[in-house]
Amino acid sequence: MFYPIAQKVMFACDAEWSHNFALGSLKRLAHTPAAALWRQQLPMKPVTVAGIRFDNPLGLAAGLDKNAECIDAFGQMGFGFIEVGTVTPRAQQGNDKPRLFRLPQANAIINRMGFNNKGVDYLVENVKKASYKGVLGINIGKNKDTPNEQGKDDYIHCMRKVYAHASYITVNISSPNTPGLRDLQFGDALYDLLQSVKNEQLDLQARHDKYVPVFVKIAPDMDLVAVNQVAETLLNSKMDGVIATNTTLDRSLVQGLQYADEAGGLSGQPVRQKSTEVLRQLRAAVGTKLPIIGVGGIDDAESAQEKLAAGANLLQVYTGFIYRGPELIKQIVTSL
Ligand SMILES: Cc1cc2nc3c(=O)[nH]c(=O)nc-3n(C[C@H](O)[C@H](O)[C@H](O)COP(=O)(O)O)c2cc1C
Repeated sequence: MFYPIAQKVMFACDAEWSHNFALGSLKRLAHTPAAALWRQQLPMKPVTVAGIRFDNPLGLAAGLDKNAECIDAFGQMGFGFIEVGTVTPRAQQGNDKPRLFRLPQANAIINRMGFNNKGVDYLVENVKKASYKGVLGINIGKNKDTPNEQGKDDYIHCMRKVYAHASYITVNISSPNTPGLRDLQFGDALYDLLQSVKNEQLDLQARHDKYVPVFVKIAPDMDLVAVNQVAETLLNSKMDGVIATNTTLDRSLVQGLQYADEAGGLSGQPVRQKSTEVLRQLRAAVGTKLPIIGVGGIDDAESAQEKLAAGANLLQVYTGFIYRGPELIKQIVTSL
């Protein structure tokens, strides 16, 4: 009951203002009696993926809690895992506002936030303060002013900072809002980056005496040839998993709607099919060798089931959660 009312109020306000207000409230209230408004005890649906045990296979996707400020509140809602970030080595403002748009007729969002975040040191301090004991993914990226040729230094910097605190690390090379970032998904650029990431992971494993799996997050805007190439490189560079997918640049399913022509990545229902197709192609390319986290347009039990049927081992939600709130987590987890 609480979310539909809160959502109505927030949807009457500016999208980014509401986002910040909601996160601020979750952060402030997570350890007060108000947490009863969103706390849920969900049935256990345990699954082990990449050597990690998850209480259930539904996670919060990256980008909602970029600075890891609300881990405890999201844990209370019953997510099986939480992915924070994308975080970059240094704090950055992101793109100019407005940069976040709701398309309610399509249950969609367009964003061009541009990795606005307070930097990796701030994120790590928040992770240390949290009392959440579940699975935590930390999603890393590069600063906007770091040229792509030095991009790998940013990923390595973040890996070193977060390694001790993460259940898994996600290498995000698929945001459409950092110029040139998606070029890292292809050819030698991808192989070079992932080789460096793999070497660093093995060094860090020795130093910390713990193995933290690395997942790579990819875009939905790829043809079959590109998906197959990415799959081959992921296998060759011994990555531990892949997250499919990020937001899309394709606007064909939202034509004519308000904000449809805003620059940025489109998420929610209009990316569902595209993202499931990439997931299906990936699964065909990697067989059982690589776990896949399916994300993009999941907003009910049926769309969750569709991702699992296409080959996902785990699921994440972002936009569906904005439209439906904690009830969505309950509906999906109980349906599995
Ligand atoms: C406002 C917004 C910000 C996002 N920021 C990030 C981010 O920082 N890093 C990332 O990997 N994905 C980010 N995403 C992408 C989501 O994690 C997810 O991959 C995508 O939205 C598709 O899932 P959905 O349809 O459930 O939203 C963002 C999405 C939205 C809507």
